[in-house]
Amino acid sequence: MASATKLIYLSMILLLLQLTPLMESIRTNPTLTPTPTEWPLQFHSVLFINNSGSLQKTDLWYDWPNGRNFNIIQNQLGELKYDLEWNNGTSFIYTLEPFNKTCKVLHFDVGILRPNWLQGATFLGQERVDNFLCNVWEKVEFIVYYEDVITHRPVKWIFYTGMTAHVMTFEVGAVLEDAKWQAPVYCFGEAETENQRSKISPVLESPVHGGSPGMLIRTIADAADAVL
Ligand SMILES: *[C@@H]1O[C@H](CO)[C@@H](O)[C@H](O)[C@H]1NC(C)=O
Ligand SMILES: *[C@@H]1O[C@H](CO)[C@@H](O)[C@H](O)[C@H]1NC(C)=O
Ligand SMILES: *[C@@H]1O[C@H](CO)[C@@H](O)[C@H](O)[C@H]1NC(C)=O
Repeated sequence: MASATKLIYLSMILLLLQLTPLMESIRTNPTLTPTPTEWPLQFHSVLFINNSGSLQKTDLWYDWPNGRNFNIIQNQLGELKYDLEWNNGTSFIYTLEPFNKTCKVLHFDVGILRPNWLQGATFLGQERVDNFLCNVWEKVEFIVYYEDVITHRPVKWIFYTGMTAHVMTFEVGAVLEDAKWQAPVYCFGEAETENQRSKISPVLESPVHGGSPGMLIRTIADAADAVL
């Protein structure tokens, strides 16, 4: 008899344990609105970007454990531009030979985007974009983000400036070798250095910074920090 009672208690506890995650998700999310998937800690993505008709192919190397993010931007029939961002707020924006050797160093108050940077985004519904059925969210009015309903991979995002990125590849776990994360020597010493101490609006107004997805991403990180 005693052992039968124990068995009943045990199965009740097991049932509760099983239900707990479900109850948790119902409590935090009463309508079961979909939430954006966190970014993998490391990935490589090829993006096709349309910035008011100017096209770019960008290699995005997101590397959270190492506190770094890289946008390697090929402008259509134009310059190859490197936008290397560190979590301490420093960005190196440079070109290499055969293009002119230029480098700009920027300092931001924010680091790179956190893997959960989409947390708290507003769900806008589902939409078919680039031939994929997507869940759509808006984050602090700076970005609209489209994620494949089935695979949960990002498909597209649109910055507040209208700049639109289409995700062509999404290689989870891909890491760019360390040697490639080295800004050229002319970034150190006499390079032009700017402080981006200001929040949001000066970045918004600056046509130079508006042109780079890296700058826009930093702006979003900035805005997200301000909101959180
Ligand atoms: C790029 O975007 C502009 C609108 O800003 C649009 O007119 C044009 O067709 C787009 N180009 C491509 C290749 O998608
Ligand atoms: C941030 O980190 C990078 C890479 O280690 C370094 O080159 C840069 O000088 C650092 N910036 C600051 C402000 O410490
Ligand atoms: C590269 O430098 C040369 C000489 O200073 C200049 O004429 C040219 O416009 C520059 N090219 C770019 C793409 O900035």
